[in-house]
Amino acid sequence: MSEKLWGGRFAKSTDEMINEFQASIAFDKRMYREDILGSLAHAKMLAACGIITAEDSEAIAEGLKEILAQIDAGQFDFDLDLEDIHMNIEKRLTDKIGEAGGRLHTARSRNDQVALDTHLYVRREVAAVHELLVELQTAIVETAEKYREVIMPGYTHLQRAQPILFAHHLLAYFAMLVRDFARFQGVYERADIMPLGAGALAGTTFHIDREMVARELNFGSLYHNSLDAVSDRDYIMEFLAAASILMVHLSRLSEETILWCSREFSFVELDDAHCTGSSMMPQKKNPDVSELVRGKTGRVIGHLMAMLTTVKGLPLAYNKDLQEDKEGLFDTIDTVKFSLAVYARIIRGMKVREENMRRAVTEDFSGATDLADYLVKKGMPFREAHAVAGRAVHDCLGKNIWLKDMSLADFQALSPLFAEDVYEAISPETCVKNRNSLGGTSFTQVAEQLKTAKELIKAEENIVNEESAKQV
Ligand code: ARG
Repeated sequence: MSEKLWGGRFAKSTDEMINEFQASIAFDKRMYREDILGSLAHAKMLAACGIITAEDSEAIAEGLKEILAQIDAGQFDFDLDLEDIHMNIEKRLTDKIGEAGGRLHTARSRNDQVALDTHLYVRREVAAVHELLVELQTAIVETAEKYREVIMPGYTHLQRAQPILFAHHLLAYFAMLVRDFARFQGVYERADIMPLGAGALAGTTFHIDREMVARELNFGSLYHNSLDAVSDRDYIMEFLAAASILMVHLSRLSEETILWCSREFSFVELDDAHCTGSSMMPQKKNPDVSELVRGKTGRVIGHLMAMLTTVKGLPLAYNKDLQEDKEGLFDTIDTVKFSLAVYARIIRGMKVREENMRRAVTEDFSGATDLADYLVKKGMPFREAHAVAGRAVHDCLGKNIWLKDMSLADFQALSPLFAEDVYEAISPETCVKNRNSLGGTSFTQVAEQLKTAKELIKAEENIVNEESAKQV
């Protein structure tokens, strides 16, 4: 005879190794709060529908609240033999309050229970990610504002291309994070659907009130197909997908941070408090945080792949494979939240070495496009102007000088359209100032972006507040 809550039909107790293999308590105990909140709502509904008595419901509520306090205080011994968080709590409740505890699982299966718990969990964690995203976005905007006049080379192929504002570069990441925020709003919406009442797979014979449970737990809507409610994990896949894209953005920012603080670039200096040294080489100051964020991106992408692969061949409805949804999700949540929080610090602590960025634009040919545009504005077809500017660069390379060092006579030898104003036209300030097309790098456009960014942050803060007000 098995001791398990489901032990009735078993003649033997579970093999010890099998027991350990199939248990999820080691990791799903993270959802104890969600599990208890779900049970509180369920018991209240059962009583309201006359399925259990009001006394039983009250006893259940009292018992569950005591258990919640115990777990909060770290005074609950989780038992591997009870498999998962659901049965650990239910068994403790029954030990505490007797028969009434045995009525809690009426009209419910662990299949819809675990779906409810993970929906609540994802919904809460999306709100937390949103808050941290806003924090990083704020750090980016503040830093962009602080260095709003600083000019640096923009790159293509990692070759200096055209002068841009450092603020413009940072605000590109801001814009990506705005879309990340929106992607997580989509995740929130899909996690905000209530699955309880699906039972094991087909619904229940009891006259339950699913709308009431949804109301109790502040869900925006509920599942209308019981098989779907217990089978799919798309809200988890979406979380992992949104997290992967966000991490890819942070990883690119990290790669640039690492390049920028190398001696070769020397564009920024990270705060000493954000770096580590070497056990052997005394001179070292390493950008570990950026390297780790770049590195951890791999495991988040891995969790997404694992989840998609786990679900892709599953027949409906619940299969134990789905228990594999949790560890990757939890690890992703921890990784993303930590990465966002540390990156806000990295950005805030970053000192920009303006003079080095400056040198990288002046001692180079990043004004060459502007040299061609100068001729175009004097009437030359662009393709021809491109060739003339190319020849100017070629001549400079031969003489080991920069465009600004060319004499007017040398310019005019290439085209009679050149005049004294050419020097002004190819100065880094002019190159930046003239790129005033919508979304360009000009001082005016970047000021506009900064203004919009602050408005967007305000709007996002409102969403964060709404989301946290809806948590149970
Ligand atoms: N621990 C299980 C999970 O995480 C809970 C659901 C178990 N359901 C079952 N029929 N075995 O998926």
